[in-house]
Amino acid sequence: MSAVQPPFPKPRPEVEGLQAYSAPLEGRRGLLRLDFNENTIGPSPKVLEALSAIPSDHIAIYPEYDGLREAVLANLAAAPAGLGCALRPDQIGIFNGVDAAIHAVIHAYGGPGDGLLTTSPTFGYYAPCAGMQGMAIEAIPHGMPGFAFPFAAIRSALSRTPRILMLCNPNNPTGTRLAADQVVELAAAAPDTLVVVDELYEAFTGDSVLPIADFEAMPNLLVLRSLAKTAGLAGLRIGFAIGHAAVVDRVSRVTGPYDVNSVAVTAAFAALSDQPYTDAYVAAVKQARHWLVSMLERHGIKHHAAGGNYLLIWPQRSVQEVEADLRTAGILVRSMAGKPQIDGSLRVSIGTLEQMQRFWEVYVSLEAPASLP
Ligand SMILES: Cc1ncc(COP(=O)(O)O)c(C=O)c1O
Repeated sequence: MSAVQPPFPKPRPEVEGLQAYSAPLEGRRGLLRLDFNENTIGPSPKVLEALSAIPSDHIAIYPEYDGLREAVLANLAAAPAGLGCALRPDQIGIFNGVDAAIHAVIHAYGGPGDGLLTTSPTFGYYAPCAGMQGMAIEAIPHGMPGFAFPFAAIRSALSRTPRILMLCNPNNPTGTRLAADQVVELAAAAPDTLVVVDELYEAFTGDSVLPIADFEAMPNLLVLRSLAKTAGLAGLRIGFAIGHAAVVDRVSRVTGPYDVNSVAVTAAFAALSDQPYTDAYVAAVKQARHWLVSMLERHGIKHHAAGGNYLLIWPQRSVQEVEADLRTAGILVRSMAGKPQIDGSLRVSIGTLEQMQRFWEVYVSLEAPASLP
């Protein structure tokens, strides 16, 4: 909170008491970025071609979204597991990143005193969005050991009818996975609760609820997807909400008419048309993940790897020191110091095999090789 005292125009009390989501976002260019679970090699060449062919009037006029919803639908329907039922374009909301979708969902559905149910620890942007609405957050810890999804506790908390249940699947940062039929079971148990499934990382482990979702039968289910982490468009900001048309409509009501810019739209069309590129990147990450986990196991280093393109490692030295030393060596990772259940760990995003081999070489040299078994 700012130390500046009035007089200055006072915001709403919820905003005055807010701890904004802050992440160390500057000075990351040129380094090996394993700190934000981003795509580490950049988007498809088709995206770069489309961007460099943008004509001047495309920038001078307000963005147009014609055909984008259809392109998202075609892309989702072509996925190996497909869709549980055919979707219409009005079931796709377009947002300025999933961050903006989360903000809009909570803005549209959460009022002062309403409950937001989620797990802990989880993605750090849910809490400030709930806080700015004055919602009451109930965050249920994961089951230990192993960070299991606290299914029974969440199921029972649903009897208090929270306005929103936020499920991050797989969960960032613990990788906790929840099977699609369990997501449906929770949504079925709480028809008056909006069950939002943030599937930002589902491509890496494949637990999406979309192959079994029927939004007509279950209008309280909403799925969030992004082109940030797999397709490599994090810098352009574009994400989607998929659900019942009435819910997508309500969530879209609290956004501006042109919140998603035309450059992001052009990039999204190109990225969606080159799914083989994204699939190849995801396959490379999975291979690198397998290799890194086998090295951690072989050297007896405490770690936790489950869903997503990231894992947790507990260094023997202070986590802040290891994070700083890695940075000096040109590698960024995220310290999880102070977070419940994972204090003392580093979250390391997975890139290509070559990148993870570089990480490993530096990590081992920093972790006082003599102390490694
Ligand atoms: C779980 C989760 N949801 C949403 C986001 C934000 O996604 P986007 O870049 O599409 O706004 C992130 C980014 O780190 C995330 O980890």
